[in-house]
Amino acid sequence: MTARVALVTGGTSGIGAATSEALQAAGYRVAANYRSDRAGADDFARRTGIPAFAWDVSDMETCRNGVRQVEEALGPIDVLVNNAGITHDAMLHKMSAEQWREVLDVDLGGCFFMCRAVIEGMRERRFGRIVNVGSVNGLTGQFGQTNYAAAKAGLLGFSRSLALEGAARNVTVNVVSPGYTDTAMVRAVAPDALAEILRTVPVGRLGRPAEVARCIVFLAADDAGFITGTTLRVDGGKGMG
Ligand code: CAA
Repeated sequence: MTARVALVTGGTSGIGAATSEALQAAGYRVAANYRSDRAGADDFARRTGIPAFAWDVSDMETCRNGVRQVEEALGPIDVLVNNAGITHDAMLHKMSAEQWREVLDVDLGGCFFMCRAVIEGMRERRFGRIVNVGSVNGLTGQFGQTNYAAAKAGLLGFSRSLALEGAARNVTVNVVSPGYTDTAMVRAVAPDALAEILRTVPVGRLGRPAEVARCIVFLAADDAGFITGTTLRVDGGKGMG
């Protein structure tokens, strides 16, 4: 059998880059999506040999076109990892409608648009693995993240519902829920706020992108077909209880 094709959104940096590389190491033909950091994506593509494709996941049409481009280059998409995400942290009484909308559009809307673009093909071919990247903050809530926590909690209901719809067609849908991981997104948090948060992580450190990636690869596997609608936490124990 030829190697399966995997697409990772936000796949050229952070957890997404680690996932693209881990899937490649596991024998997948991988495409990495990114939105705007062309130089970073070019570096990533040169270093790994993984082709990078630019589009904004918060729009139905750009997702359709992006998926078409990837499928023309690599073939039908078997594995979709919805990893692209942004934050605009602010207490609710200071949050603008734009901060709310952008985070919901990318972090939750992006998952819908991407799944919508691949789901018919997966159903027809009777194979699909969709892994959505959630967050511990979607489970516990987080000061300053009503927008982000709402989007990430929304992914859980979305994923369970799509898991029900895909089950009879061998299309599984699961969530990997990272905790505070050593990426640019977390490094942007004010150091004193981050130190406070780290005190609530039983393992006592930031996660590593590769520690999240290995769980995504696990759920993407052909022989993970009996696992659907679940959430796998990779958060150093922060989200338990
Ligand atoms: N719980 C309770 N009170 C808190 C608090 C907390 N966690 N954090 C701050 N406060 C209090 C402060 O002590 C302060 O009180 P006083 O007014 O009495 O002094 C008040 O709330 C206002 O706090 P700030 O000065 O921090 O408010 P701000 O408006 O300047 O900043 C914020 C707000 C940007 C949200 C900032 O608190 C912050 O950056 N928090 C961390 C947010 C965070 O963890 N984001 C995660 C990003 S990474 C990610 O999202 C990846 C992932 O999936 C894990």
